[in-house]
Amino acid sequence: MKHYLNISDLGDLHMAVKQAIKLKKDPYALQELGKRKTICLLFFNNSLRTRLSTQKAATNLGLNVIVMNFGAEGWQLEFEEGAIMNQGKSEHIREAAQVVSQYADIVAIRAFAGLVNKEQDEAEVVLNGFKKYATIPVVNMESSVAHPLQALADAITLEENRINGKPKVVLSWAPHPKALPHAVANSFIAMMKKQDADFVITHPPGYELNPEITNGCKIVNDQEKALENANFVYVKNWSSYTEYGKVLQHDPTWMMTKKKLGKAKFMHCLPVRRNIVVEDAVLDSAQSLVIDQANNRTWAAQLVLKELLTAL
Ligand code: CP
Repeated sequence: MKHYLNISDLGDLHMAVKQAIKLKKDPYALQELGKRKTICLLFFNNSLRTRLSTQKAATNLGLNVIVMNFGAEGWQLEFEEGAIMNQGKSEHIREAAQVVSQYADIVAIRAFAGLVNKEQDEAEVVLNGFKKYATIPVVNMESSVAHPLQALADAITLEENRINGKPKVVLSWAPHPKALPHAVANSFIAMMKKQDADFVITHPPGYELNPEITNGCKIVNDQEKALENANFVYVKNWSSYTEYGKVLQHDPTWMMTKKKLGKAKFMHCLPVRRNIVVEDAVLDSAQSLVIDQANNRTWAAQLVLKELLTAL
């Protein structure tokens, strides 16, 4: 694997999940692999899980770790080719990416969607800028349209909670006061397409995701119907894709409740707004897998870094 930008970069997802679970059982088995090598984690947006789990995963593999809150502390970057840089942006991605490549063997990047300009977000200017000009492997720690480390952690969590037979997995939209990106939902869907599961997406009309991503998926607008006989319910808010970045409604009846969840396991990537997205009774119950998902972020990152280091 040269870069980790999307879940498809893993190739065989089931093999990757198996290997991640193996690393979880013996975290320090490959401590020599990253020795005298460095990973640089660049954050253009906030994080708790991604920052700590990726740093922990890298350390488990013997890597040195440099973390920079680029959005707050770095020079403002210009991404446009041929730009006349007489405004606020001080450094071009051409130099910045090559410079980072002098100090690190792998660079990992978090750069969210702006949710204002769909074309610009879908062009993934930050991630693709680093991919184009860095001379080292690039890892996606959540970009405008994808969060593949989260999706791999979710796949590990599903495997650890496997049931006999084909599971029914539901991805349900939930209300949220702020406009949120589509990245988590997109990567969860991409991951679920590789699973042997009855997979259903439910959301109110107007919250259709990119049809190129949901292509072939069962979509039901009636949440109650979608949740019937579910084994796993993954709850996530996203803003409108068609009316790009807009919050169309806050309908509180879409919040996940214990009653609606039934006997299913509850999943969410976190952070989560209690009693808006999901009620306390769900999060505080034994049916909630959210802490396991957060734990599995380490093993997902460790598997990805192991693959990249092996291919260096
Ligand atoms: N799930 C997730 O990516 O969490 P953070 O935003 O805290 O990293």
